[in-house]
Amino acid sequence: MRAGTVVLYTDQPTRRGDLLRALEPIAPCAVLDAAASAPAGPCCALVVDLDLLQPSPLVGLRTLIAADPALPRIFLMRSMGARSLSAARGLGARLCLPEDTPAGTVAEALRAQLAPVSDAAKPGARSGSPLVVQAADKAGAVIANLLDAARDSGRIDAALVNDGLEPILGAIGQGGLTAWLDTVRAYDDATYQHCLLVAGLAATFAIDLGFSAEDRQQLVRAALVHDVGKARIPLAILNKAGPLDPAERAVMRTHAALGHQILVQAGGFDDAVLKVVRHHHELLDGSGYPDGLAGGAIDDIVRLITVCDVYAALVERRPYRAPMPAAEAMTILHGMDGKLDRALVRAFERSVAGS
Ligand SMILES: [Fe+2]
Ligand SMILES: [Fe+2]
Repeated sequence: MRAGTVVLYTDQPTRRGDLLRALEPIAPCAVLDAAASAPAGPCCALVVDLDLLQPSPLVGLRTLIAADPALPRIFLMRSMGARSLSAARGLGARLCLPEDTPAGTVAEALRAQLAPVSDAAKPGARSGSPLVVQAADKAGAVIANLLDAARDSGRIDAALVNDGLEPILGAIGQGGLTAWLDTVRAYDDATYQHCLLVAGLAATFAIDLGFSAEDRQQLVRAALVHDVGKARIPLAILNKAGPLDPAERAVMRTHAALGHQILVQAGGFDDAVLKVVRHHHELLDGSGYPDGLAGGAIDDIVRLITVCDVYAALVERRPYRAPMPAAEAMTILHGMDGKLDRALVRAFERSVAGS
C-alpha cells in the first residue's frame, strides 16, 4: 500500500463531507480547489471532483499525475458525455464515475486501485480490472438477493436493486463492454451470469443511444430483474445441460408471467419495468410468450431488452458449450428479422462493435 495523503481536488467542498468520511480510513485527505498547486508531501491517491468543461489550467492536478503516472485516481464526472470524458482522459483519467456515485463505492474503487497487484493475480481471481470485477460482484450480490427473496419469501425490496445500477454503468462507461463480458462470464451460476450480461449489454446500448441518466438507470434496472421469475423454476430445468424437452420448455416459459407476478406483489417497480419482465419473450410477429403480443403492442423498452436478452443467451459461457463468437450471434439476430426490431438490431450491432 502506498503512503501519503489522498488528494481531493474539488470545486464543491461543502457537498463532499460524505466522500471525505469514506476516504479518511484509507489515508488522511487533503482537500484542494482547482487552482491549488500540488501538495508538497507524498500523495497515495487522487480524487478529482471538478467541472472539467470550465476553463482552468489545473496545474496542480497535472503536476501530480505527471510526477507519478501510476498514481491511483478517480475522476468524478459532472457529465458522462463525450466532451467531459475526453477532457478527463486528456488529463490522465482512467476511472471516470458519475459525480453522484455513492461515497462508499468511490472509496471501494480507490482501495481496489491501491491493492497490491498480487491480490488481483491470485489463482481463481476473475479477469478484468479491479473496478469491473468489483462492479460485477456488487451487481451479482444484488441479483443473488433478488433471486433469493423471490424464491423464499417473495419479499423484494425495489430500492436494493438500485444498488446495482451505477456500478454497472460506471464499469461499462470506463472499462467497456468487452471487459465486462469477460469478467461476468466467469460466474458459474447461469442465471447470475445471464442477468449480468443482459445488464451490461443494456448499459452499453443506453450509453450509446445517448439516454438520459434516468433512462439509463431504468434500462439497467429492467435488465437486472427481467428474469426474476426464474427463481421459481426448478433447478433441474433451469440448469439442464442440454436442450429442454417440450414439457420442460413449457415450465421454463412460465418464468416471464411468474416474474411479473412476483414484482407486482413486491410493489415499487414502475410500469415499464413490469412490462419488460412480463414481455421480454414477446416477438414482433406475435410468436412469443406469454401473451402473444405483436408489433406496436410491444413497447420500445421491451424491444431493447429483448435484443440484449437474445444476444446474451447466445454469447453466454456454459459448462457444456463455448460462448458463441459475437459475429455469429449477430448473424442470428439479423436472421430474426420480423421478430426483432430491425432498426434496434442495427443500432445494437454498432453499439457492441464500437465498445
Ligand atoms: Fe427470460
Ligand atoms: Fe433473459
